[in-house]
Amino acid sequence: MRTHKVAVITGTNSNLGLNIAYRLIDNLDYEDKLTLVVTSRTLLRVREVIDLLKAYSEKHEKNMYVDYDYLLVDFTDMVSVLGAYYDLNNRYDAIHYFFVNAAQGVYSGIDWMQATKEIISNPLEAVTNPTYKIQRIGVNTADGMGLVFQANVFGPYYLIRKLIPQLSKGNAIVVWISSLMAEPKYLSLEDIELLKTDASYEGSKRLVDLLHLMTFKDLKALGIHQYLTHPGIFTSNSFFQYLNFFTYYAMLMFFYFARLMGSRWHNISGYKAANAPVYVATLANPNFERQELKYGSATYRDGMEYIVTEEVDPTGAYDVYKYIIRLAEDWDEKLKDQIVNSRIIL
Ligand SMILES: NC(=O)c1ccc[n+]([C@@H]2O[C@H](COP(=O)([O-])OP(=O)(O)OC[C@H]3O[C@@H](n4cnc5c(N)ncnc54)[C@H](OP(=O)(O)O)[C@@H]3O)[C@@H](O)[C@H]2O)c1
Repeated sequence: MRTHKVAVITGTNSNLGLNIAYRLIDNLDYEDKLTLVVTSRTLLRVREVIDLLKAYSEKHEKNMYVDYDYLLVDFTDMVSVLGAYYDLNNRYDAIHYFFVNAAQGVYSGIDWMQATKEIISNPLEAVTNPTYKIQRIGVNTADGMGLVFQANVFGPYYLIRKLIPQLSKGNAIVVWISSLMAEPKYLSLEDIELLKTDASYEGSKRLVDLLHLMTFKDLKALGIHQYLTHPGIFTSNSFFQYLNFFTYYAMLMFFYFARLMGSRWHNISGYKAANAPVYVATLANPNFERQELKYGSATYRDGMEYIVTEEVDPTGAYDVYKYIIRLAEDWDEKLKDQIVNSRIIL
């Protein structure tokens, strides 16, 4: 019997988001049908990404089996998050895949002096765990939360929480995209909204790891299978603005050099980076085992891809979860009268 699956990929027009979609198309059986729900903050980028996906599915002769829908959502705006929930709720009874891929940092440039020092003293480390990207401190949203916290953690978490009935009905696989850099040192329990740190991006990924550890079992009881993944290191569109022709190619050269030196994380291509997220969604565990691990996309020297699993240090998970749950309840209250059905004529 033909199955019809619905996949939501947040931030679909990013290099990783697009390649997650490509891999889902590649994995699609000819008997099945897939609706790809692409998300962006702007209609223009939705159009661009749907055109790219259509071209890909035509090239791979899957166009008969894939269709497209879109959702405009800005995770730094809770009314927009709630609107996204209403739209998905109205359109789909069941959702089968939900990829939390959208993310942002509050970058203001590159500290070139620091970058040069790091590259000279330890080039491999400099392109694996860079500390020379300058992040602004204390950036809030209009909702009054830390911007990176809301965009990368709380906004997506709140949307998933609202969508539990649809995810449950679809026995969905929820995939969070974390990072290699999600180290415990980047998160202070005194600063869960990441307002006092100059490493809010890394801190947000650490929060993602902890939130996953605290939620996957409860979701499993509802028939929803959540996984934690990271894409290694690949070329990202968001950092191009800080690079010119020369620095971009120098960066690429260092990435290939790192891979030759044995760095398994330098996937470089978005397609290889999307390996782990799509692996957990489509291939990994028929019995949904080992959900406590973090699944990373890795590449051998010759470019052959593989998956690496790692344990996650759970320190602080309970405190983070308690904070986020309380915040979610506050927002349930604040948003309870926010969207009314304007079509009802009184
Ligand atoms: N690049 C790497 O080496 C690397 C390493 C580790 C982890 N990652 C993770 O991989 C994922 C994808 O990275 P990428 O570099 O491909 O992405 P990117 O180029 O930085 O693009 C970010 C995406 O997120 C969306 N987005 C940003 N802020 C948003 C907001 N407030 N609300 C809704 N959507 C928002 C953007 O959509 P619109 O602009 O269309 O709205 C865009 O599609 C991210 O989770 C990133 O943290 C990347």
